[in-house]
Amino acid sequence: MIQEIKSHIEEVEAFQSEDLQQIEEFRIKYLGKKGLMNDFFKAFKEVPNEEKKEFGKTLNQLKTLATDKVKQLKETIESKQEEKGIYGDLTRPAEMAPIGSRHPISIVKNQIIEIFANIGFNVSEGPEIEDDWHNFTALNLPEHHPARDMQDTFFVQRDPKDILLRTHTSSVQVRYMEENQPPIRTISPGRVFRNEDISARSHCIFHQVEGLYIDKKVSFSDLKQTLLYFTKQLFGKSKIRLRPSYFPFTEPSAEVDIYWGLETETDYRITKGTGWLEIMGCGMVDPNVLTNCNIDPEKYSGFAFGMGIERIAMLLYQIGDIRMFYENDARFLEQFKSSI
Ligand code: PHE
Repeated sequence: MIQEIKSHIEEVEAFQSEDLQQIEEFRIKYLGKKGLMNDFFKAFKEVPNEEKKEFGKTLNQLKTLATDKVKQLKETIESKQEEKGIYGDLTRPAEMAPIGSRHPISIVKNQIIEIFANIGFNVSEGPEIEDDWHNFTALNLPEHHPARDMQDTFFVQRDPKDILLRTHTSSVQVRYMEENQPPIRTISPGRVFRNEDISARSHCIFHQVEGLYIDKKVSFSDLKQTLLYFTKQLFGKSKIRLRPSYFPFTEPSAEVDIYWGLETETDYRITKGTGWLEIMGCGMVDPNVLTNCNIDPEKYSGFAFGMGIERIAMLLYQIGDIRMFYENDARFLEQFKSSI
């Protein structure tokens, strides 16, 4: 029997392989549960006492050799793989990395920014917590002016002076005018807050993009052409109308409608059968506002406009409920893949 073990020792010493499968078979043959080592250990009981010592020693030698051999062969294979480079086997199948998507509000915001950037507008930002001056007073809305009620305000502090959550990003335009002299071409995207009931169509937190253009001899027709360019770029629609309206900070003021069309049932529903959709407010900046911001209204004139991003995104993507934007349901968000 000892002879038999010795011949196995030779076999183990001679064994070479670079094939994992073969190495595994070898391991099972010697070291597996039903392997040769087990058979020999069982046979050990039958060995006469005076041979036990040598038998045991040889057997242990075989076991150590087999164990080391398996370990060494596996290590050789691994180190050869490492030599192939840090990337290992480049032909192995890649793991799928889930790619996120931008929020639809960001997508639409970026589209609007890009459209206006192409005609020379930069982007300006300001604080969400504002003082009364930048949100109201400078915009020709003095204290007790009834138009302050047009936008229900969240106040952070009322005494000694009003601090509030901005109700529009017109406040950013005030800040921009205070710091920059014309020519001014800027758009102000941002989050705004109004104390309104939450429903499918309105929310107390939403996003706006407001635009401001101030230079010498800026006229109402410049405003109209700019808006026409914008609606063509964003919606692919080239018919707009301006309806007289009122904003304290612009004079004259208008509401902008685009002709959406009446091709589908949805078109009928969202335009209430008229084909027209209101998308933003605009007007020529009131001279009082320019004066408040240290810009000479005798020298300069300008226009301003403002729109809600949610409303535009709802139109572009046919989203029926504004609340979907804020629920962050992955099934909703995954539908929006975009490069901007
Ligand atoms: N600030 C107005 C609003 O929030 C929008 C607007 C901006 C209207 C500029 C006219 C000119 O409703």
